[in-house]
Amino acid sequence: MIDAYYDAIKTVHVTCVALSGSLFASRALWVLLSKRALWRWLRVLPHLIDTLLLASGLTLAFLIHQYPFLNSDWLTAKVIGLIVYIALGVAVFRGRQTGTRAVTGLMALIVFAYIVSVAFSKQPAGFLAPYL
Ligand code: HEM
Repeated sequence: MIDAYYDAIKTVHVTCVALSGSLFASRALWVLLSKRALWRWLRVLPHLIDTLLLASGLTLAFLIHQYPFLNSDWLTAKVIGLIVYIALGVAVFRGRQTGTRAVTGLMALIVFAYIVSVAFSKQPAGFLAPYL
């Protein structure tokens, strides 16, 4: 019973991951290349998806009794990574200089890839492991 529940939430989580990453990349490319504002729904939708991403992630964590900042280094790394990813995203969409926005956009994508690598390896170092 719990397993079916866990699998369903994990599917929601991974779907949010795919939507969050692909929407972020397309929105960033759009504002940087077209220099035009985003449609209103494209400014609201990512907040809903990121909230669901965090809520589903935290629910999974509670179900397996692993708690960020308490007993799970890889989940702590994911939460910190998520905060950095969101902050870089704000810099991309609120920033003024195109160069800075492009660099922060690229950094956000690298941080996103790092979080995915932490998720698969269940190690806080993620894809940085060979260099540490
Ligand atoms: C941008 C942020 C995030 C990304 C890109 C992400 C990515 C992923 C991916 C790809 C998986 C599937 C891994 C697999 O199939 O082995 C996963 C699973 C999971 N994530 Fe996230 N995640 C994010 C945020 C979070 C947060 C904030 C938490 C909780 C604090 C969290 C907790 C979990 C848990 C507990 C699993 C299930 C692990 C398992 O059962 O194998 N995630 N995440």
